[in-house]
Amino acid sequence: MGQGGEAGWSGAYLHWDSQWRERAGILAWSDPEPWVAEVIDMVRGRASGPGRASGPGGRALDLGCGVGRHTLLMARRGLQAHGTDRSEAGLRHVREQGERLGLAVHLCAADFRQLPFGPGTFDYVLAWNTIYHGTEQDCAAGLREVRRVTRPGGLLQATMLSKRNREYGLGIEIHSNTFVQPQATDDKVHPHTYSDEPGIARLYQDFRMLAAAERDHGGSGSHHWHLLCEVP
Ligand SMILES: C[S@@+](CC[C@H](N)C(=O)[O-])C[C@H]1O[C@@H](n2cnc3c(N)ncnc32)[C@H](O)[C@@H]1O
Repeated sequence: MGQGGEAGWSGAYLHWDSQWRERAGILAWSDPEPWVAEVIDMVRGRASGPGRASGPGGRALDLGCGVGRHTLLMARRGLQAHGTDRSEAGLRHVREQGERLGLAVHLCAADFRQLPFGPGTFDYVLAWNTIYHGTEQDCAAGLREVRRVTRPGGLLQATMLSKRNREYGLGIEIHSNTFVQPQATDDKVHPHTYSDEPGIARLYQDFRMLAAAERDHGGSGSHHWHLLCEVP
């Protein structure tokens, strides 16, 4: 899939691929989020009910898995753990960690706008700090794919950048609600989409919203939406 034009523009993985080649870059993203651990436990309970996509543990997808802190947690907690990312370095690290820890992880390189899975494959999809990398069009394309690959009754746990984030409005607005900071030294040189409450409602209109709250990552104005949704 191309990076620009009609298909949208989602090149942030290039930054992350460099970061995942550095030990310090990996270490900064190694500890699982407590709320993710809570939802994984909830999924284990739900996956044993009727209409489940897989065995007793449930089948889970870590979308834009990075260096796999949550993919490995899913496997450790008994889910069938799948991870996708466009960063080869990230995927290599997850694979090595899985082997080292004796955990089964199923990995493949994929763009979140085009997932190589059939309809209703997953009980649970996690998109932590992933799906806002790109324009709103990219984000909407990713969410259409998530909805397709998640079974009815399955869960999506996601974060989105909030318009209350300290970086909202910095740089050039290349598309509605999408900013690029050409001088940035981090992934903000690539497009990022920011959302307010109506924007979240619009993007997630095909999901049933179970929980939506704004949280400041790191306590320094890095406001993100924390979302939990169900596929109808
Ligand atoms: C901020 S990191 C988060 C990693 C992981 N979700 C975590 O919480 O540890 C964002 C990840 O999304 C990936 N990514 C960005 N754009 C992507 C795309 N279009 N398709 C697939 N992965 C993408 C990056 O390569 C990177 O690994």
